[in-house]
Amino acid sequence: MTTAIVQISDSHFGTEVAPVERALRKMIEELAPSAIIVSGDVTQRARNNQFRDARRFFDSLPKVPLLATPGNHDIPMFALATRLMRPYSHWIKVFGEDLEPALETERVLVQCVNSTRWFRRKHGQISAAQIERVARRIRQAKPEQLRVVVAHHPLLAIRESDNNNLLRGHRDAVRAWTDAKVDIVMGGHIHLPYIRPLHVEVENPPHHCWVVQAGTATSKRVREGIPNSVNVLRFADTGPVHCAVERWDYEAATGCFEQLHSVDLPLTREPPPQAASSLVAPDDVETERRLHDLADLSDLQGEGRAFE
Ligand SMILES: [Fe+2]
Repeated sequence: MTTAIVQISDSHFGTEVAPVERALRKMIEELAPSAIIVSGDVTQRARNNQFRDARRFFDSLPKVPLLATPGNHDIPMFALATRLMRPYSHWIKVFGEDLEPALETERVLVQCVNSTRWFRRKHGQISAAQIERVARRIRQAKPEQLRVVVAHHPLLAIRESDNNNLLRGHRDAVRAWTDAKVDIVMGGHIHLPYIRPLHVEVENPPHHCWVVQAGTATSKRVREGIPNSVNVLRFADTGPVHCAVERWDYEAATGCFEQLHSVDLPLTREPPPQAASSLVAPDDVETERRLHDLADLSDLQGEGRAFE
């Protein structure tokens, strides 16, 4: 038997596409996941009506644990007093006070971490205290638990133009969480789905670990011709720790989310062999193919371009 957890990211309510939203609801109903991870940018501009629509959507999903952590778009941009004094007031009405929720079962530990700051418009930041708190939690995990960290901003980029979008403090986070033997770090923000080895970013990594980035779930703000998508973590309920990451894309032709692929992640908890460093998940191959189909990438590859 396996358990499924869905990752929904960057829904950007206010720019959502109604048929995509309906298709995502149907997909999740049929999938019947055990939990839902929401990795930020739920709204486009943190407006009350956008949070209201988001709430309506999430309330309509199966009643399972919902682990939501904010993105930079979930803090009001123009209501300056609110931004300074109560940046998460709208968020809290929908998702509650805990900006860094966690889930723990016999087979999985998920820890969210808030990477937003009221004084940063787009970029994310993580403090030494947050890094250590998460590392401590991961170190306490049992060997049979899959260890997952969720932050809105990415720890690893695959486009030079996205280096500017990396979480401020990402190097310290990668080192600390790799040492603590995290299995998967999930993120969003840049609307580009990919899976990459994270252990190759540090010297002498103690085991395999992976970055799993999500695309935008429901927004019209898709990137590089890649359709709306969500990720599904599917892991074994018994036996050795095993996890596959499924990517589900919205297919306009059928009006449904359909599974594009399923990638088995090596999770040996041993020092990774050199060959594992070169593993490229199929979604990256697909992304590369789509990129090469585009005639002009110049506006996507500008130096220092920040994704909003
Ligand atoms: Fe974002």
